[in-house]
Amino acid sequence: MSSASSLEVEDLRTEFVLRDRVLRVVDDVSFTVEPGQALAIVGESGSGKSVAMRSVMRLLPKTGRVAGGQARLGGTDLLGLSERQMRKVRGRDIGMVFQNAMEALNPTLTLERQLTEHLLWHGICDRAEAKRRAVETLGDVGIPEPEKRIRTYPFQLSGGMRQRAMIAMAMVTQPSVLIADEPTTAVDVTVQRQLLDLLARLKARGTGVIMITHDLGVARYFCDDAIVMYAGRVVEHSPIRPLLAHPAHPYTSGLFSSTLEVGARQRALRPIPGSPPDLAHRPPGCAFHPRCDRAEERCGQEDQPLLPWSGNGSDLVPGTVAETGRPTDERTDDRADERTGRREVACWKAVQHG
Ligand SMILES: Nc1ncnc2c1ncn2[C@@H]1O[C@H](COP(=O)(O)OP(=O)(O)OP(=O)(O)O)[C@@H](O)[C@H]1O
Ligand code: SF4
Ligand SMILES: [Mg+2]
Repeated sequence: MSSASSLEVEDLRTEFVLRDRVLRVVDDVSFTVEPGQALAIVGESGSGKSVAMRSVMRLLPKTGRVAGGQARLGGTDLLGLSERQMRKVRGRDIGMVFQNAMEALNPTLTLERQLTEHLLWHGICDRAEAKRRAVETLGDVGIPEPEKRIRTYPFQLSGGMRQRAMIAMAMVTQPSVLIADEPTTAVDVTVQRQLLDLLARLKARGTGVIMITHDLGVARYFCDDAIVMYAGRVVEHSPIRPLLAHPAHPYTSGLFSSTLEVGARQRALRPIPGSPPDLAHRPPGCAFHPRCDRAEERCGQEDQPLLPWSGNGSDLVPGTVAETGRPTDERTDDRADERTGRREVACWKAVQHG
């Protein structure tokens, strides 16, 4: 596979088969990540962000199964590969930074073994070159004295260092696509900034990045496009800046209202009332209707497909997205963003009334 392949996910559907029922956790999710572009995935806890990415990586728990769709990397459908073929893709063509750092690291092996074996296993280079690359990558992720630290075990590292080591694992092979699941939540602001700079360098070299994040400041700073997930579905898809400035879907507005600052002063956060649905009893029609302050009768009756949208959206942003240590200088004007990529929303009311 070339080092500049786009990842195209189409109608991805993932289910968990439980004893007495089947839960559809990811439902017809589609998006594309081009080389050198970054996609943010946002949504409340439990909306299916991690499961969607694990489906693409084919790393689901035993009870999980991909029930439909495609995930094409440079034209190859990953969902159709054998496990053996997929093992070659994983780590070499797509790297993943997991929500839980320890998941990616083997506690019984030194960083040197893990990083070099990874390169050797994929046949990327010989042992001497693998060692050189491993040290270089540890240095790149901000691990001090990488020649020394490379001989340590994961448990000897602090949380922040472990997070960096995991990112090193994901990027040592220079994959076409890097999936980062909340890569900056467990680290302080300084480390966060370093990691974002690092990801920005990868992006500049042509790596496509998917970033799952609750941090809209990170998304705004780093990502080009975003999808917003609710109850396993994409409810809004847009270039990031217009999305943050003028969300179209009532759920997106609610999500952002609960995580924004206005100017320098912290506004009282307004959590969305209610809680996400139990997927075993998904509300009919628009799954958000029991919580939506704009809901009308038809919302509970009609499924809401993603439709093109060119309205005005909510005027939600008189201030800035929560400060998280990155520049917020270049304020956007958002509808004029030259990345006028299509905006899509799954809400008839937004489509009809803007
Ligand atoms: N092994 C499993 N068996 C059954 N259901 C699962 C399993 N793993 C996840 N789920 C369910 O799938 C849904 C999506 O989970 P997922 O971990 O993708 O959420 P998320 O959007 O990543 O949330 P968070 O922001 O908390 O990480 C949730 O309802 C979760 O309960
Ligand atoms: S379809 Fe109805 S319930 Fe769903 S977001 Fe739109 S207005 Fe709200
Ligand atoms: Mg998750």
